[in-house]
Amino acid sequence: MTGPATPLLRLTSVSVAFGALRAVDGVSLAVAPGERRAIIGPNGAGKTTLFNAIAGEAAVTGGAVSFGDKDVTRLSAHRRAQLGIGRTFQITNLFGGLTVEENLRLAVRGLTRRKFAILSNGTPRGAEALAVESALDHSGMIARRSVLTRTLSYGEQRQLELAMALAARPKLLLLDEPAAGLSAAERTRMAEVISALPRDLTLVLIEHDMDLALKLVDSVTCLHFGRVLVEGNPDAIRGNAQVQEVYLGTPRHA
Ligand SMILES: Nc1ncnc2c1ncn2[C@@H]1O[C@H](COP(=O)(O)OP(=O)(O)OP(=O)(O)O)[C@@H](O)[C@H]1O
Ligand SMILES: [Mg+2]
Repeated sequence: MTGPATPLLRLTSVSVAFGALRAVDGVSLAVAPGERRAIIGPNGAGKTTLFNAIAGEAAVTGGAVSFGDKDVTRLSAHRRAQLGIGRTFQITNLFGGLTVEENLRLAVRGLTRRKFAILSNGTPRGAEALAVESALDHSGMIARRSVLTRTLSYGEQRQLELAMALAARPKLLLLDEPAAGLSAAERTRMAEVISALPRDLTLVLIEHDMDLALKLVDSVTCLHFGRVLVEGNPDAIRGNAQVQEVYLGTPRHA
């Protein structure tokens, strides 16, 4: 029997409410294994809240989230991470006095600053070392492995955030504005790094810079007031009048 591959991620009428506000309001979408999807939409559209619902950091008030063939709607964020749902760590989860590589070793062990982990002096075992090498490689940070985290440039810190997420060996990686606050040169670098990520890693990426986002993905979901406004491939999104209206804003001097 042949048919479309089971989506890696499927949301069915997912809602997240904060009091009377439905930040995410009945969102359904499916992301195939290996697909790269952008989530776009104006400020407050519900993009980050949607990520939180996927990663298990926001309780859904309706609908279901499945990952592979598993319903993860009621699972903790920790359990979802173990299953392979990854997201970028905030830089505040890093130890500034440790090197890039040492921070990655902690990430591989599933330890973050929150848990006050103590760095072991032992040599990392095979699998652990491989995961660290892979994360350094795919984040473009190999040359910076021995540098203290607190001395990294802002762009490098954002690359390290990506490396930290990769170190946990996710199947699905959620990137919330990976290029936010970066200079033009750093954005270009980040785009190159994301483009070069392994093709079997499924990516869902929130990005305000439309040009950047559309270059990196196979498909786009545009959210507006917590709902899916339009979904399509980058070309369709580029030419979509509704997207231009809500996302780019109508031109002032029409
Ligand atoms: N913890 C919370 N409690 C109450 N309201 C919240 C909470 N988190 C988000 N919101 C509200 O939910 C709505 C969606 O917020 P969200 O951060 O998901 O938007 P976003 O699309 O990521 O926006 P941005 O592009 O500015 O990052 C906003 O109105 C926001 O103020
Ligand atoms: Mg956001």
